[in-house]
Amino acid sequence: MGKKFQAMRGTRDVLPGEIEAWQAVEEAARRQSSRFGFREIRTPLFEATELFARGVGDSTDIVRKEMYTFPDRKGRSLTLRPEGTAGVARALIEAGLARPHELHRLYYMGPMFRYDRPQAGRYRQFHQWGAEIVGTKSPWADVETILLLVGLLVDLGLEGLVVKVNSVGDETCRPAYQEKIRQALLPRRDELCEDCRERLDRNPLRVLDCKVPSDREIVKDLPPMLDSLCDPCREHFDAVKQGLDAAGVRYEIDPGLVRGLDYYTRTAYEVHHGKLGAQSAVGGGGRYDGLIQLLGGPAVPAVGFSMGIERTLIALEEEGRKPAPERDTIYLARGAGLGGQAVRLAQKLRSTYAVALDLEERGLGPQLKQADRIGARVALILGEDEAKAGEVTLKDLGSGEQRRVREAELESAIEQALRGPVART
Ligand code: HAM
Repeated sequence: MGKKFQAMRGTRDVLPGEIEAWQAVEEAARRQSSRFGFREIRTPLFEATELFARGVGDSTDIVRKEMYTFPDRKGRSLTLRPEGTAGVARALIEAGLARPHELHRLYYMGPMFRYDRPQAGRYRQFHQWGAEIVGTKSPWADVETILLLVGLLVDLGLEGLVVKVNSVGDETCRPAYQEKIRQALLPRRDELCEDCRERLDRNPLRVLDCKVPSDREIVKDLPPMLDSLCDPCREHFDAVKQGLDAAGVRYEIDPGLVRGLDYYTRTAYEVHHGKLGAQSAVGGGGRYDGLIQLLGGPAVPAVGFSMGIERTLIALEEEGRKPAPERDTIYLARGAGLGGQAVRLAQKLRSTYAVALDLEERGLGPQLKQADRIGARVALILGEDEAKAGEVTLKDLGSGEQRRVREAELESAIEQALRGPVART
């Protein structure tokens, strides 16, 4: 016997039966993006390692511990994208589209890769829907991205969402704040976890993001960044809050929210869902006014977020709102030797309906069982009798009712059957 393979730890197959919920979320995300005037961008799944090291920041856990990095055959260091923003910024710079005052509203969807310890809601290959507004400093852009994210989650039917916002300042006010934290933490350096001792040297703000309980205790007494904002950052934050108020979005101010990526300036936000347990962030983002310049482009400000598709699906399931598969397929069962006529009929119907055709030479019983298995609403039976009479038997798989229909009247009979009450879900 050959070796049996398994999906790698932290990766999952999405099988029929489950894929419908994914597609429903993906389609809703696409609709939501275009309702807000966003256009899709697709960037490669791997990039030069240096892009993420610089963009995401080499003091972050993502870059230090979680990247899938490998040399290619020419010895170049490549990395499977752990997130989408750095790639989008690189693409805009490369295409000459990152220009001051030129606005881009972009969205993307697809797999991201992080080598973290897998647990509920945390995978090594996961999927994001993300959106970025590039080319404006306006606080209304921050508000728009939050509305875009929260709007989708609400449209999907999620309740129990908590929107958290904070400001992490900018290059004017943050260095002094970082120094303030460093000075406050230095006397307790030895009590911090090993990672945080290093963070204290490289980027003290990262200590605020540590999940180790004893560190959290130490950190909770530190002065918040919000008290150290410079005037322009404070005005920006006030304008974002006013915008959210005007749009009717309920939010909490979370002074401890620093996010796990280094490129943020000013606004940082996350949307949490109460039933997700430890990995409760469904989505998160913020402003990153320095990233494009950091990656070699002009000074072009931007803001955006990403939403985790797996976590959104888990939250929907927890609330009993998992989108159900659509049951509108027609299954065409047929008698032996009627393959040619069945194909002809299926082709005719496919201009209007989804039709699955039985492929085996077998009895009616197994064919109808198969119809049931794929979740068809209606089965059409083309037996010898029917074929001779120019008719088809239409069986409503919900009610079990069946009747013979002339082929010429088939479409209106199908219409009637599909429009009838859905007997099963
Ligand atoms: P992030 O907070 O690292 O931000 O990820 C965004 C979302 O992706 C999370 O809230 C979570 O739902 C999902 N996610 C992250 N890691 C995992 C994982 N290991 N397994 C399952 N889901 C996960 C970013 O990625 C930024 N690029 C967001 C952004 C866009 N900021 C500005 N523009």
